[in-house]
Amino acid sequence: MKPFRSILITGGAGFIGSHFTRLAVRSHPGARVTVLDKLTYAGNRANLAGLGGAIRFVRGDICDAALVARLFKGLDAVVHFAAETHVDRSLGRSADFLRTNVLGTHTLLEAARRAPGLRFVHVSTDEVYGSRARGAFREGDPLNPSSPYSASKASSDLLALSYVTTWGLNLSVTRCTNNYGPNQHPEKLIPLFVTNLEEGKQVPVYGSGRNRRDWIFVEDHCRAVDLVLRRGGAGEVYNVAGGQEKDNLAVTRAILKAMGLGRDRIRFVEDRPGHDWRYAISDAKVRALGFKPRESFASGLARTVAWYRANAAWWRPVKAGDFQSYYRKQYRQR
Ligand code: NAD
Ligand code: DAU
Repeated sequence: MKPFRSILITGGAGFIGSHFTRLAVRSHPGARVTVLDKLTYAGNRANLAGLGGAIRFVRGDICDAALVARLFKGLDAVVHFAAETHVDRSLGRSADFLRTNVLGTHTLLEAARRAPGLRFVHVSTDEVYGSRARGAFREGDPLNPSSPYSASKASSDLLALSYVTTWGLNLSVTRCTNNYGPNQHPEKLIPLFVTNLEEGKQVPVYGSGRNRRDWIFVEDHCRAVDLVLRRGGAGEVYNVAGGQEKDNLAVTRAILKAMGLGRDRIRFVEDRPGHDWRYAISDAKVRALGFKPRESFASGLARTVAWYRANAAWWRPVKAGDFQSYYRKQYRQR
């Protein structure tokens, strides 16, 4: 494979996108790396701290066709992370999810079909398959999303794959399980619980706490995306799993233990509407490309807790902003 000379990363100021941007700067030396990010409530320039002149940062919207067309000139790779990503928010503000996740992806695809030779990775989620009580989904299984978030991601996956069939795009899709690690917005389970505990608060466990998720450390996910960028096939979908399935109470207990706190800090609250019971995917296909996660849940969680403890200056302003009014509204409903 020829080295990439110019890579565009959408959503690169978000959680996973910023870790991927750091990896791209290291693992594609000589490439011009551009980040396109709207800096919504979830985007944070501080996530790219220290990268300075190693990247070009463009604040903008993936739905802005003129801007996207300009940025696609001379590009040879796009890694598309930008999205609205929080299931709870999609229950109240679904239009934002359709706009960015479906129409924004469509805007990128339209630009891509006018850029011959472009390599495109569309980053998606295991949530598109829906919930299953036993066994694991494979890439060819039908999609059965439960929330406006996962339905918008499923729509964007299908749209992206249709551009391979219709326009011959060199595009692959990745579908990963739950990520955790430094720089994750504190609306998501692990950073919400760690930061609540740091603030002396309780942690809100939805329903019975028995819903199950598979967890992967963010740097492992990024290595898988980079591998798919280099070696993935056009029109192929790759599941990316952490191989560390746990119920939410087990995750909560692990956080409490890592922070030296007791179970009295758990508060059971009303369940999320449409709460998927369990996600599970088979990752044999990406493993056949050479991928294997490196971080165990215990070591990844220890790194994550240590990061949030050392970086209150990162998360305190985030929790004080839009987050406050969002969560006040959520808790009133319970
Ligand atoms: P995030 O919410 O932390 O970051 C999303 C980023 O996209 C933010 O920087 C935001 O400013 C930017 N953005 C949003 N709308 C935009 C727009 N219209 N134009 C330009 N930028 C915009 O998200 P994340 O958790 O890092 O997820 C990144 C991607 O990975 C998403 O596509 C998500 O569906 C997928 N994914 C996430 C997980 C997970 O566990 N977090 C797992 C599997 C897949
Ligand atoms: O599976 C991949 C998906 O993982 C990604 O596509 C999504 O972008 C990402 O947000 C994540 O979705 P989840 O809904 O699984 O993540 P969340 O952190 O919101 O919740 C994880 C589990 O914890 C879920 O079962 C709901 C539960 N939960 C969550 C929160 C925020 C609680 O019990 N209490 C909470 O306060």
